[in-house]
Amino acid sequence: MKTAIFSTHRFEKDYLLQANLQKHELKLLEVQLNKTTMALAQGCKAVSIFVNDDASAEVLHELKNQGVEFLALRSAGYNHVDLAEAKKINIRVARVPDYSPYAVAEHAVALMLALNRKLIRAHNRVRELNFTLDGLVGFDMHGKTTGLIGTGKIGSVLAKIMNGFGCKIIATDLVENKELIDKYNVEYVDCETLCAASEIISLHLPLTPKTKHIINKKCIDKMKQGAMLINTSRGALINTRDVIDGLKSGRIGYLGIDVYEEEGGLFFEDHSEDILQDDVIARLMSFNNVLITSHQAFLTSTALENIARTTIHNLGCFEKNIPCENELSI
Ligand code: NAI
Repeated sequence: MKTAIFSTHRFEKDYLLQANLQKHELKLLEVQLNKTTMALAQGCKAVSIFVNDDASAEVLHELKNQGVEFLALRSAGYNHVDLAEAKKINIRVARVPDYSPYAVAEHAVALMLALNRKLIRAHNRVRELNFTLDGLVGFDMHGKTTGLIGTGKIGSVLAKIMNGFGCKIIATDLVENKELIDKYNVEYVDCETLCAASEIISLHLPLTPKTKHIINKKCIDKMKQGAMLINTSRGALINTRDVIDGLKSGRIGYLGIDVYEEEGGLFFEDHSEDILQDDVIARLMSFNNVLITSHQAFLTSTALENIARTTIHNLGCFEKNIPCENELSI
C-alpha cells in the first residue's frame, strides 16, 4: 500500500525500512504534514505522521480528497489530530499506544538528576579546567516527596523508579492504580494537595481541554519554595508564562522540560543559523536552573523499533481490513 511518511527523521528511517521489509510502498518525506505540504500525499492510501504534524480538519479534508483513508500516528499522543473530523469523513486513525513507557520515565529521571546535581554546569566547568564545587550543591532524592500527575503507563513506571530512590510518592489521576498503592506505597491525593506537598512534580497526562494548563499560577503559588517541575508529556500542560514567573520568584527551583507549548516549527529542526523569534523560550533558556531537551524522551532504540513495528502492523491491519487494536475512536 502506498503510504506517505511525513516528518521522517534520520534517526528513525532505518527502523521503518527494517520493519516494513518492503511490505508497503513507503514515500519517506522529511517535511511535516501541514497545509503547504499536504499535496505530497497524492496517490497514497495511507499517511503516517509524527507529534508536531498538522492533522487539523482542513488538512484531513484535503488528504481525503486525495484518496487517503488511513492515518498512522507514530506517537502515543494524538492531541494534534482532529479525531471528530477524521471520523466524520471516514479516515481511520491508529497510534502506537505504548512503545516504551520506560524510555520516557527514564528521561524524566535523567532531567531530575541532571538538574538536581547540576551536571550540565559541572561538565562545562570541568571542560574549562575549573574544578571548584561552589554552586553545585544538590539534594538527596531519598526521603523526598515526588508528586506524579498521571499514573498511566509512563507515570506508573516512574512511580516504581522513584520508589527505588526511596522517595515518598503521591499521585493524582482519574483512576487509582491499586498495584502502585499496594506495592509502592503510592498515596492518591488531589492535584492541589500534590502541588503543595511535593519537592518534585512530574507530569504524565495526555493533553486535553481538561488538562491544558493544569500547572498554572494557582497551583504554582501552592508549591513548596524551590520545587522541581518536570514535564515530558505535552508542553501545553503547563502555562509557560506562569512558570517563568514561578522561576523568577524562586517558587520553582528547577524546571526540566522535554516539551514546550510552542515547540512546533522549533523542535526536531536545526535553527542554529536563525535568529530566535520566540521570546518565551528565550527567557526560559536564560535561567541556569532550567533544562530543556527537544522532545527526545521517547528516543531509545527499543522505542524506535517498537514505533516502527507497530506502525507497519497498523498499516497492515488497515490494508487487510482486519480489526486493529491500536485504532482510535471517539
Ligand atoms: P496513559 O494514557 O497510559 O496515562 C495517562 C494517565 O493520565 C491515565 O492514567 C489517565 O487516567 C490520566 N488522566 C487523563 N486525564 C486526566 C485528568 N484530567 N486528570 C487526572 N488524570 C488524568 O499515557 P502514557 O503512555 O503514560 O503517556 C502520558 C503522556 O506522555 C502522553 O499523553 C503523551 O502526551 C506523553 N508522551 C511523551 C513522550 C515524549 O517523548 N516526550 C513520548 C510518549 C508519550
